[in-house]
Amino acid sequence: MLAEALLEWYGREARDLPWRRTRDPYAILVSEVMLQQTQVARVVPRWEAWLERWPTPEALAAAPIAEVLGAWVGLGYNRRALRLREACVAVADGGWPEDLRTLPGIGPYTAAAVGAFAFGRDELPVDTNVRRVLERTGFVPSATPPELGQALMELGAMVCRAREAACSACPVASSCASAGAVVIAPRGRAGDGVRRERFEDSNRWVRGRVVEALAAGGELPEGIELERLERAIEGLIRDGLVRRGTDGLSLPM
Ligand code: ADE
Repeated sequence: MLAEALLEWYGREARDLPWRRTRDPYAILVSEVMLQQTQVARVVPRWEAWLERWPTPEALAAAPIAEVLGAWVGLGYNRRALRLREACVAVADGGWPEDLRTLPGIGPYTAAAVGAFAFGRDELPVDTNVRRVLERTGFVPSATPPELGQALMELGAMVCRAREAACSACPVASSCASAGAVVIAPRGRAGDGVRRERFEDSNRWVRGRVVEALAAGGELPEGIELERLERAIEGLIRDGLVRRGTDGLSLPM
C-alpha cells in the first residue's frame, strides 16, 4: 500500500531530472558519482557538460587525467573522478560486468543505482535519503522495482527531509510509523553529520582550489592560510592526485 501510494505520487510529482530520462549506464554512473557529493541543482549543468565532452566510457577512458581532474573541479573528492575514469577503462576493455561492484570505486550503493536505473534490475539503492525514509516510515519493501528507489530518493529529498519532515504534504503519511512525530536534532549535534560535513567541505574546498590552479597551469591559489594549503597538498599527494617533482607541483599525466 505504501509502495503504491509512493509510486503514484512519484509519477505525478517527480522532478524532471535529465538522468531520469536515460537508461545509458555510463550516463547514470556519472550522475550517481556526481550526486554523492554535490546538490542536484549544481550537478545538472555539470553532468550535461561532462556527457557532451565525454559521451561514452571509451571517451572518458581515453581522456588525460589532468583534463578529467580539471573538469571535476567543484564537484568534491577528486579521487572520485579518477575512480570513475578507471571504471570506464575497465568497461572500455571488457564491457559492463554482471557484478558492477567489481568496477573500481563502485560500492554497493552505486552498483544498485546503476543496476536499477540503467539495467532495470530489482535492486534498491540505499543512500542516506532512502535509509532515512525506510527508518521513519517502517516500510519494508516486499519487491524492489527500479522506480521504487527513485521514488524513495525523491520523497527523502523533497518531503521527508532530514531536518524538516513535511508530513502534511507526504503521500504516505497515513501508513507511516512516524507521521507527525519526527523529532529533529538541533543543527550541529553529533549524529546529524553537520559538523563533519563542514570540516570536510573546507578541506575539500582548498583541495579543489589547488587542483584548479594546477589544471590551469598557474600558481598556487592566494589568500589561503599556508598551513591549510600544505595540509591539502599533502593529502592530494597521498591520494596520487598531485605530484611533487623537482620543478614543483603538477597533476599526474
Ligand atoms: N541522488 C542520488 N541519486 C539520485 C537520483 N538518481 N536522483 C536524484 N537524486 C539523487
